[in-house]
Amino acid sequence: MVIAKTIKHVRKIIFAAKQKNKTIGFVPTMGALHYGHLSLVRAARKNCDFVVVSIFINPTQFGPKEDFRKYPRQFNQDKRLLEIEKVDLVFYPSAAEMYLKDSSTYIKEVYLSEPLCGSTRPGHFRGVCTVVAKLFNIIEPDIAYFGQKDYQQARVVKRMVRDLNFPVKIKIFPTLRERSGLAMSSRNAYLDQKARGDALVLFESLKLAKKLVKEGERDPKKIINKIRKLIISIKNAKIDYVKIVDVENLRPVDKIKAKVAVVLAVYIGKIRLIDNVLVDANSN
Ligand code: PAF
Repeated sequence: MVIAKTIKHVRKIIFAAKQKNKTIGFVPTMGALHYGHLSLVRAARKNCDFVVVSIFINPTQFGPKEDFRKYPRQFNQDKRLLEIEKVDLVFYPSAAEMYLKDSSTYIKEVYLSEPLCGSTRPGHFRGVCTVVAKLFNIIEPDIAYFGQKDYQQARVVKRMVRDLNFPVKIKIFPTLRERSGLAMSSRNAYLDQKARGDALVLFESLKLAKKLVKEGERDPKKIINKIRKLIISIKNAKIDYVKIVDVENLRPVDKIKAKVAVVLAVYIGKIRLIDNVLVDANSN
């Protein structure tokens, strides 16, 4: 497994792989890897000849009051995990390598980025789109892998790829959960034992939504009210948003008629967690 810290080094290795007609699978990450990431790496390993993982905590997607500084950093452990998964190349650049001091070009998707996390975290998706576009230009993957846990991010990236004609296929893979149901996330590292228990309310909320739809409830407002009640019964939890949205345009639906996404963001103490589930009114 090669670890490349510069764009020049990555380009050289990718050029050689492409010369041998290898298909490139790419998993972009910010490190602090968990089984969710590894499931994406395994999918890439299965479908592609050459697997690249990037580890870069992208400063442009964090707001000034967010957790950029204390975001978990554990490169040595990540490296060991990726070696076991037989990754071919790890791109591990510095911020200076990725962003020149006077860099002044950004990519902004303006529709799918607007609601949900986009309204609580202004600038977040601009940072994500910019770094993902840069990584695609550097790595030139055939297929890039994203997790459904960041549902809005995956949709935004897909839209950017479509709109800007990036020659890459985006694959979205299901959220991996701990045995308790808690969605795997690097930010779970911030949770102590009590907070981990409180955080289960996200999964419980999604299960409740699924059950209600299965029982025939089609009014999103009623489902959202029940979820809100459940969440506020946890003292340490504060709702950012709970929405039931169209899977394509991410806007709230008036009635659940087909496939919808139940999406939520909840603070457990100071830690903001997100989760979602896709529910199909016609196949329950
Ligand atoms: O989901 C993430 O870890 C990040 O948003 C990504 C896609 C690696 C871009 O920095």
